[in-house]
Amino acid sequence: MPPLRVLVTRRLPGIALSMLEGRFHVDLQRSDRSLTTGELRLRIRKAHGLLCLPSDRVDRSVLEAAPLLRAIANCAVGVDNIDLDEARRRGIGVTNTPGVLTAATADLTWALILAVTRRVVEGDRLVRAGNFAGWSPTLLLGRSLEGKVLGVVGMGRIGRAVAKRARAFSMEVVYFSRTRLRRQEETVLGAHYLPLKRLLITADVLTLHLPRTPQTKELLGFQELARMKHGAFLINTSRGDIVHEPALIGALRSGRLAGAGLDVYAREPKVPARLRRMKQVVLLPHIGSATLETREAMATTAARNLIAMLERKASPNQVA
Ligand code: GLV
Repeated sequence: MPPLRVLVTRRLPGIALSMLEGRFHVDLQRSDRSLTTGELRLRIRKAHGLLCLPSDRVDRSVLEAAPLLRAIANCAVGVDNIDLDEARRRGIGVTNTPGVLTAATADLTWALILAVTRRVVEGDRLVRAGNFAGWSPTLLLGRSLEGKVLGVVGMGRIGRAVAKRARAFSMEVVYFSRTRLRRQEETVLGAHYLPLKRLLITADVLTLHLPRTPQTKELLGFQELARMKHGAFLINTSRGDIVHEPALIGALRSGRLAGAGLDVYAREPKVPARLRRMKQVVLLPHIGSATLETREAMATTAARNLIAMLERKASPNQVA
């Protein structure tokens, strides 16, 4: 029997590709850019398996173009780039890579919290521009974290890892989540549950750690942002369109929010010019999980998931 064919949409760090090449015929997209949906439709025609990234839109039209497809391994924890209902309807298995990126994403969340509250990027720009004129009692005053309230929306693995790190900064933690943690977990994390409305008016720093689903799309719109504490900071390392971007821009402009740290955007890779012009905003290019160790682990996990599905074995990371 000829080997099964798998499409890999980008070069990956580590051993993932060699794991796949040992078993399958691999069609690798070699250039370092995302395939367009049209290109994906063409390349996927003969594939039995797909290893793809959050930047690949695997919509219904792509699945319709793939009559042989049996398995999709997304190299990410979020799977909002894949039409899961259509995949289920066609009996195509879908997996993600949870767990291995928890610490890296939680760390980057804290990098954003610190960068935005302590004006790290503004300071860097000032020094590079040759404008550092010596220590000043009023230069680039930020806001302290000690004793402030961190509001975590979404208490899955990443939300919990972010909450755990808050201890080191002596912050109080409140959270909102679809499922409330067990009492013992709340005690260990020192986190108190609040309904979303109360959380919004309580948090000095609000950080989002939800999956993007139809229910979480634009969860934070004009009304919700208007409820936030005056001078609060918003951090988003989950998915861009969980926040209504024009509402966010309005809240930053009016000063309701003192700043924002964003790693994700509603229409990636597009970032609104109005956001790019704001100095109270730190903008990163969706690098929450981007450490060498984590990206290697994600790629290996995705390859292992794909092999399991194509060899008709159970994968622990099956989401459809
Ligand atoms: C990245 O955004 C991921 O979902 O892993």
